[in-house]
Amino acid sequence: MIKRIALLGSTGSIGTQTLEVIDGLGDDYQVVALAAGGNYELLAKQISKYKPEYAALVNEKNLEKLKTIVNGERCQFGKGPEGQLLAARWPSADLVVIAQVGFSGFEPLIAALESGKRIALANKESLVIGGEILQRFGLLDRERIFPVDSEHSAIKQCWTAKYQEEIARIYITASGGPFYGMTQTELQKVTPQDALKHPNWQMGPKITIDSATMMNKGLEVIEAKWLFDLSLDQIKVVIHRQSIVHSMVEYVDGSTIAQLGMPDMRTPIQYALTYPERKKSLVRSYNPYGTTLTFAEPDHVNFPSLKLAFRAAEAGGTMPAVLNGANEVAVELFLAGTLIFNAIPILIEKVMALHDNIKIPEVSDVIAANHWARNMALEVGSVLRERMD
Ligand SMILES: NC(=O)c1ccc[n+]([C@@H]2O[C@H](COP(=O)([O-])OP(=O)(O)OC[C@H]3O[C@@H](n4cnc5c(N)ncnc54)[C@H](OP(=O)(O)O)[C@@H]3O)[C@@H](O)[C@H]2O)c1
Repeated sequence: MIKRIALLGSTGSIGTQTLEVIDGLGDDYQVVALAAGGNYELLAKQISKYKPEYAALVNEKNLEKLKTIVNGERCQFGKGPEGQLLAARWPSADLVVIAQVGFSGFEPLIAALESGKRIALANKESLVIGGEILQRFGLLDRERIFPVDSEHSAIKQCWTAKYQEEIARIYITASGGPFYGMTQTELQKVTPQDALKHPNWQMGPKITIDSATMMNKGLEVIEAKWLFDLSLDQIKVVIHRQSIVHSMVEYVDGSTIAQLGMPDMRTPIQYALTYPERKKSLVRSYNPYGTTLTFAEPDHVNFPSLKLAFRAAEAGGTMPAVLNGANEVAVELFLAGTLIFNAIPILIEKVMALHDNIKIPEVSDVIAANHWARNMALEVGSVLRERMD
């Protein structure tokens, strides 16, 4: 049966790799909708190649340029955040890949869930922000959400339990990023260019910085809590520098099942697209001969972001949205060269401390908390910068 795919974030790292996977899978996979932020030139090329029924761009000015380039293609167009929501609900799509970055994935996830779609979810931030609300509103249909994050894909692949009580805990693996082993003094000097060089993975800039601070693992802990209905004390993080074991599930009988593979996002992307089947892929397999796999405890002293994420998840309510919003701004400031690396968790912690948590929020509260956190992070960021100048 043909699978019809709506791809949000088509111009990004996950988006372009999803299209590579679709190319490799052949005619059974058809792209019916594409959505991106502002990269009209790449989106134009994708429209010419995949002939979707619908294409959306957030940036309205660039949409006019896009239309000029693809003049003649039979494609409907959407703009702004509304255009993204239409892509997430596109009527002929049966699978929606949500691969845009940050908060922008939150409302499309709700839209796709409300319209009954199956979802391949790369955008972890949407579950961090909205996992609790989706659960409370009965929208968190775990049968319809297929994780694209390699760790959560691994957990899904290792999850053989019939009953939740069979699970003791999960281990989410973390490469540790480019700076693992460095001290606070050494971390003070790292530049955005250093941080953008991840040792094992090729990813978009935001997640690459999140990997360097370990906030990415913190976001993944919260994502796993909601995806697999686990308590926080059932979720452990383990440093595994080689990025070959993508995560593990420990059962109450003492067995631990791990999933291994090369660090290549096309594997979890393809699994989310072809589930429950497995198909030949473009990715080479892992050859275990002569390799060494190591596992260690995280360094919470030099990389405090992971603990902040646990704290936000324990607080619940609007606090995870505040953690996420403050982190997004901190990463933007660091990439712009106006915040030093070590100040990223300091900024997030200060913003969290200033927040009046709404314990049982509505969607509008979560959206407001995100705006509040972003504005507060800019204020705290400028105070931190003045102190450091
Ligand atoms: N990359 C990985 O290996 C990886 C692994 C696991 C999970 N993830 C998750 O996947 C998501 C995407 O990551 P990525 O690395 O692919 O990011 P990326 O390369 O930066 O791509 C981001 C995509 O989002 C679009 N976008 C940006 N702002 C937007 C907005 N306001 N509204 C709608 N779309 C917007 C971008 O469009 P334009 O470029 O056209 O502006 C682009 O298509 C993130 O949540 C990340 O945590 C990524």
